[in-house]
Amino acid sequence: MLKDKVIIVFGGCGLIGREIIKDIKKKNGIAINADINSNDYKIDITNNDDIKNIFKEVYTKYGRIDGIVNCAYPRTKDWGNKLEDISFESWQKNVDMQLNPIIVITQEGLKYMKEGSSFVNFGSIYGVCGNDFTIYEGTGGTSPAAYPAIKAGIINFTRYLASYVGHKGIRANCVSPGGVFDNQNPVFVKNYSHRSPLKRLAKPSEIAPAVSFLLSDEASYITGHNLMVDGGWSAI
Ligand SMILES: NC(=O)c1ccc[n+]([C@@H]2O[C@H](COP(=O)([O-])OP(=O)(O)OC[C@H]3O[C@@H](n4cnc5c(N)ncnc54)[C@H](O)[C@@H]3O)[C@@H](O)[C@H]2O)c1
Repeated sequence: MLKDKVIIVFGGCGLIGREIIKDIKKKNGIAINADINSNDYKIDITNNDDIKNIFKEVYTKYGRIDGIVNCAYPRTKDWGNKLEDISFESWQKNVDMQLNPIIVITQEGLKYMKEGSSFVNFGSIYGVCGNDFTIYEGTGGTSPAAYPAIKAGIINFTRYLASYVGHKGIRANCVSPGGVFDNQNPVFVKNYSHRSPLKRLAKPSEIAPAVSFLLSDEASYITGHNLMVDGGWSAI
């Protein structure tokens, strides 16, 4: 399904990114792991030179770039503070790290990408829906205020991009997961599951096939789409 496609996965060491790398390889694609913790391509997405260099290096080595997956997730140590406790500097830093690299990655990618290639960016249910804060009751945690601002920005930038590059046969889509199980507080898991139509969080391996599909030629007429992989969270 992804035979010989060269795909750069930013954030390929993460909970979801690891499964994306596995799934691309299973489908006979070539997955390049670009992550601050990677042994493959160790890069910092907030460093513009790192981004320029990785595209240059991958293109020199493989002669093509067919896909870009944006699922790196840098955040500050105080990510998760309540709205009242967020400093302006923290808000600014998270927007800068999570949202702003997408323009450099897009510009650099487009220097090499040809007809048939595509972008998959990561949104979230919280880029589309408001929060149900009852799921955090009894957990001591909350959902960061900058997250919906950043994710909605990414989702709508992806629509802009789809429209901008469509005439070249290049596609751009989002995948928006719901909560993914990562040994969270059991109270949170119970609350989240109760609210969710499928009555559970996602397994990380359940997000990856949606990414592979959008990268593949089977999705050749799908662009500007935001594919919810959320167990029905956003349907109710
Ligand atoms: N996990 C969830 O429940 C969930 C739900 C909805 C959406 N998402 C989205 O999915 C995407 C991936 O999330 P995840 O849960 O796999 O996150 P994660 O924290 O497990 O992984 C993120 C990866 O990004 C890498 N990274 C961090 N800073 C970096 C930097 N400056 N440069 C390069 N790499 C860097 C980390 O090393 C890590 O491997 C994110 O966009 C997130 O918002 C996740």
